[in-house]
Amino acid sequence: MIIIYERIGWKKHVCPWYLGYVLASPLRRLYQNPEKILNPYLKQGMKVLEVGPGMGFFSLPMARIVGESGRIFCIDLQEKMLQSLRRRTMKANLLGRIEMRLCSESSLRIDDLAGSMDFALAFAVVHEVSDQKLLLMEIFRSLKKDGLLLLSEPKGHVTKEEFEKTVVFAQSNGMEKAGSPSIRGSHSVVLRKI
Ligand SMILES: C[S@@+](CC[C@H](N)C(=O)[O-])C[C@H]1O[C@@H](n2cnc3c(N)ncnc32)[C@H](O)[C@@H]1O
Repeated sequence: MIIIYERIGWKKHVCPWYLGYVLASPLRRLYQNPEKILNPYLKQGMKVLEVGPGMGFFSLPMARIVGESGRIFCIDLQEKMLQSLRRRTMKANLLGRIEMRLCSESSLRIDDLAGSMDFALAFAVVHEVSDQKLLLMEIFRSLKKDGLLLLSEPKGHVTKEEFEKTVVFAQSNGMEKAGSPSIRGSHSVVLRKI
């Protein structure tokens, strides 16, 4: 599989765009229900940062929960993921609530969002990033004081020890642990900006 990724020009750690269709499949809801996962943290009018949304498995449900006065900022490295997310957003008539941005490997390009997000979601993305600390620092900066980050990583790709190191890094950089939700197949933590 790694060889195939490299032949067609993807870095081995980044999820190939065509798997975005699998990740956004409605069948996944039976395993990981987005509303059940996110309802405890979201309410109408909230501003949300989503890093690595793929084709929007979580983005569309979040846009419905935050309502017309809320906004979801979806930042992804791959244009193809964002193109499909845009199509799905249009079909769901949610275009006014979701802003999509293409980022680079070295920057999420969200300096303008600093200190303004109520909530951030990084689901199954941090392990794909080469400079994880840089990415996490950008996410932390985007949050308001008391803003929450739900960080979730797949158990198949990330060990418990590696995940704990990420949590310790967050705790040394202005975040505190605010919960450990149980999400199938994942290591998950909720962090609050202090
Ligand atoms: C495994 S997919 C998860 C998609 C979605 N969060 C979900 O759970 O369905 C990882 C996503 O992160 C994106 N990604 C990888 N590296 C990234 C980076 N440095 N910055 C932003 N997005 C990135 C990939 O393009 C892909 O869309």
